[in-house]
This record gives sequence, C-alpha cells and structure tokens, in this order.
Amino acid sequence: MENPNSNGENQTFRVRKLEISDKRKGFIELLGQLTVTGSVSDEEFDRRFEEIGSYGDDHAICVIEDEMLEKIVATGSVMIEKKFVRKCGKVGHIEDVVVDSGYRGKQLGKKVIDHLMDHCRSMGCYKAILDCSAENKAFYEKCGLKQKEIQMAKYFD
Ligand SMILES: CC(C)(COP(=O)(O)OP(=O)(O)OC[C@H]1O[C@@H](n2cnc3c(N)ncnc32)[C@H](O)[C@@H]1OP(=O)(O)O)[C@@H](O)C(=O)NCCC(=O)NCCS
Repeated sequence: MENPNSNGENQTFRVRKLEISDKRKGFIELLGQLTVTGSVSDEEFDRRFEEIGSYGDDHAICVIEDEMLEKIVATGSVMIEKKFVRKCGKVGHIEDVVVDSGYRGKQLGKKVIDHLMDHCRSMGCYKAILDCSAENKAFYEKCGLKQKEIQMAKYFD
C-alpha cells in the first residue's frame, strides 16, 4: 500500500508539532526563507520554545520533517484568540507559513494549512485568518480561503 506521506521520490514526510530538537534540524534556517530571523542561540530558542509551550493548544506550530534527511522542510503556526464577540468566540490567526525552496510544489504547504485548520476547528474557532502577498493569493485559495477586507500594519522599530 502506498505511504500517504511519501511523494513517490523515496522521501517520507511527517507532519507534527514543533519539537525542541528541531533547531538542529534547520527550523530557524527555514524561517529565514520567509523573513529576517536574526541569529537565535540555542538558549534563546529553548526559552522561547518553553514559553510557547506554556500557552498549550492556544499556540500551535506545525512542522513537516523530511525523515530521511532529518530536516524541517515546511512550517506554519496558529494562535488562538479568545474574544467576547460571537458568544465569546475564538479566532485562529495563521502566521509564518513557509516551505523550503527545494520542496515547493509537493503539496506540503497545503498539508501545513490543512493541519492548522484542523487545529482551529478542534479548538472551536468560528474562523481562521491570515495575511499574505498578492502572489500567494492563489495558493491560499487552493487551501480553501477567500480574500476578505484589506490588511493594515504599523511596525514598531
Ligand atoms: C507559498 C508556499 C507556502 C506554497 O507552498 P507549496 O508547498 O509550494 O504549495 P503546495 O504544493 O502545497 O500548493 C498547493 C496548491 O497551490 C498551488 N500554488 C502554490 N503556490 C502557488 C502560487 N504562488 N501561485 C499559484 N498557485 C500556487 C499549487 O500549484 C497547488 O495547486 P494544485 O493543488 O492544483 O496542484 C511556498 O511557495 C513558500 O514557502 N513561499 C515562500 C514563503 C511565503 O511566501 N510564505 C507565505 C507567507 S503568507
């Protein structure tokens, strides 16, 4: 029987939660393909990992590992916001979605989004939202999202 996580090129992918050992599997370098990460020491990584862990299921980071190479090749995160509107409803905020440049076009990005959406649903969210560039709009539409409103931002330097 075909392995549902294999892409037929002898690569086996595992979708799972971020683990503390993932720093040495290239997790920060992967995020560096999305934006500036700066240098993150092992101590800083461990401290931030513990801090995020203390939020339990309210902050989930999904990764996909190429198990043969022990390399993190895709990731995305979601934070669950607790609100008063919609009968004290919850909203999932999806962030930091990136697939390693050598692994794009293999449905891994979609797998990350599906995983995060399942998490939002299981947490009782009434919606999940994210911001993206125009060039990624078609990808998110393939993942079942629709364009809504416009994004506003203010950066604090
Ligand atoms: C955007 C990104 C996450 C997509 O990941 P991916 O693994 O290559 O995408 P998938 O293989 O899962 O694609 C799923 C579907 O979306 C389509 N798709 C993916 N990227 C697309 C794009 N830029 N434009 C149009 N369609 C796209 C695929 O063709 C595929 O369609 P299919 O199911 O009909 O075959 C990846 O290109 C990436 O990491 N880019 C750089 C970082 C980034 O911009 N992240 C998003 C931040 S908002």
